[in-house]
Amino acid sequence: MSIIIKTPEEIEGMRLACRLGAEVLDYVTPFVQVGVTTAELNRLCHDYMLNVQGTLPAPLNYAPAGHTPYPASICASINHQICHGIPNERPMKNGDIVNLDITVIKDGFHGDTSRMFLLGEPSIQAKRLVAVTFECMWLGIRAARPGGRLGDIGATIQKHAEKNGYSVVREFCGHGIGRSFHEAPQVLHYGKADTGEELKPGMIFTIEPMINAGKAAISTLSDGWTVVTRDRSLSAQWEHTVLITESGAEALTLSAGSQPPPKGI
Ligand code: MF3
Ligand code: CO
Ligand code: CO
Repeated sequence: MSIIIKTPEEIEGMRLACRLGAEVLDYVTPFVQVGVTTAELNRLCHDYMLNVQGTLPAPLNYAPAGHTPYPASICASINHQICHGIPNERPMKNGDIVNLDITVIKDGFHGDTSRMFLLGEPSIQAKRLVAVTFECMWLGIRAARPGGRLGDIGATIQKHAEKNGYSVVREFCGHGIGRSFHEAPQVLHYGKADTGEELKPGMIFTIEPMINAGKAAISTLSDGWTVVTRDRSLSAQWEHTVLITESGAEALTLSAGSQPPPKGI
């Protein structure tokens, strides 16, 4: 499948969906506390999307080939869980690091974004992993520009992760997004600069590196969804949906509560 170049109208639709996705994270942030369950966060986000925003939670019943329908409205992945963690009734603990991944649908357009949250006082190693993964995402965004290639994004992310002693998850990647949740291209978070498809203004895709403190290998739990590090090392992820503009790349999933890009990147 070829990469869709979005029209100005489609870009406006995506701007709105993406801002709303980010605003779900702003809304839920004060509730992300030790003792709270991810099932409760799921309920809060679900109700906010439907009743306040008038958006739909794209994950709910999402069923790509080979998967059972996803049973919740958000993904919540804690500690060694890499992605697609299913919210549950276990209270979050002091020192946990949790990724909340939100995708809303507004007027048929998808906005996809995730952030990391630190519960209480995580270890220095955990905080460093979260910070380096945030830098990886932003280095990837800064590497994306018209006339450049998809491989530029993966190469810069991989270099930064590995320089810090971490590994990049290979099995999951960023993706084109628009009227579909997942469309072309696949945006690998590793690879070689100056390879892959040329980037053009009007392309919209996510950059969502999953970075492991230990080895890159993954396992999938028997729930059919939750992806964990095989060596049970910590994993972190951040995600923005980005638009290729005439001069670079613009993160669309920004809101009042977004953490600003790291300095010097
Ligand atoms: N939001 C995820 C992504 O970034 C996809 C989640 S699919 C689900 O692509 F079914 F697990 F929700
Ligand atoms: Co995504
Ligand atoms: Co996502």
